[in-house]
Amino acid sequence: MNLHIVTGASRGLGAALAHFFAESGDDVVDISRNKSRFHDRIKHFSFDLASMDSKEDLVQKILRAYPIEDYHMITLTNNAGLIDPVMPIKKLDEPAILRNFAVNLTAPIALTAAFLKGTEKMKGIRIISNISSGVASDPIASWACYSAAKAGLKSFTMALAKDYASNDKVKIINFGPGLVDTEMQAHVREIASDDFPEVDIFKNYKNQNKLKSAEEVGAALGAYILKNPFENYTNVNINNLGLL
Ligand SMILES: NC(=O)c1ccc[n+]([C@@H]2O[C@H](COP(=O)([O-])OP(=O)(O)OC[C@H]3O[C@@H](n4cnc5c(N)ncnc54)[C@H](OP(=O)(O)O)[C@@H]3O)[C@@H](O)[C@H]2O)c1
Repeated sequence: MNLHIVTGASRGLGAALAHFFAESGDDVVDISRNKSRFHDRIKHFSFDLASMDSKEDLVQKILRAYPIEDYHMITLTNNAGLIDPVMPIKKLDEPAILRNFAVNLTAPIALTAAFLKGTEKMKGIRIISNISSGVASDPIASWACYSAAKAGLKSFTMALAKDYASNDKVKIINFGPGLVDTEMQAHVREIASDDFPEVDIFKNYKNQNKLKSAEEVGAALGAYILKNPFENYTNVNINNLGLL
């Protein structure tokens, strides 16, 4: 059996991924603030990833409940994300900047460190999958914090892969999900054009059915993680997974 730790599995892409794993018969842990849709294989650990609370204590608590000896493979998917603040840079305030980087960048790094330490004696495969975005390399106006944090996360993921380049039991994924029909997208469409000049482009994506469902993307990523047909590092997006 496998264990999957998924951040932000209370809704959206994370919830779909967690349900895919659970339906595959694996154990799943959700780290988010709100409890997700019920599934008897998904256990919710309530945690605010923007807080300074210890991610290492959290991972140790999870691994006490799910001992590593019980699993062939353990995965961590850093999926939780926060797009706000969306506004011109001169309007940004410091608490909102810190919150964005805490959720999108600092927490994934801290969780990854705690995960690698806590599962060091693991004999099977460990996979860390970080959810990226097109803005990691092609930023959008008014999305400065989110774009910079996702670029930082991608860079961290590549450095992580280099750290583990000689360990064939640790595999790293940078995953671009494309446009997914979640609350994050709905929220973006509600932002005033004064704060987000490109809002109509995102309204059109929805009107023109350009968004994929969370279930479709979650299942594609979940199947890819379970299959892990690569050695050390893979940089994939929903269009080149080859599974759809
Ligand atoms: N949707 C898209 O088109 C799209 C495109 C590219 C990349 N992405 C990326 O895909 C990932 C999933 O996005 P989504 O669209 O599914 O977003 P979403 O519907 O807004 O869901 C975000 C998830 O992150 C969790 N989260 C947010 N802040 C948190 C905090 N402070 N502490 C703990 N958990 C927190 C939320 O849980 P709680 O609120 O319960 O805490 C929720 O489960 C994100 O990394 C996002 O950047 C999405």
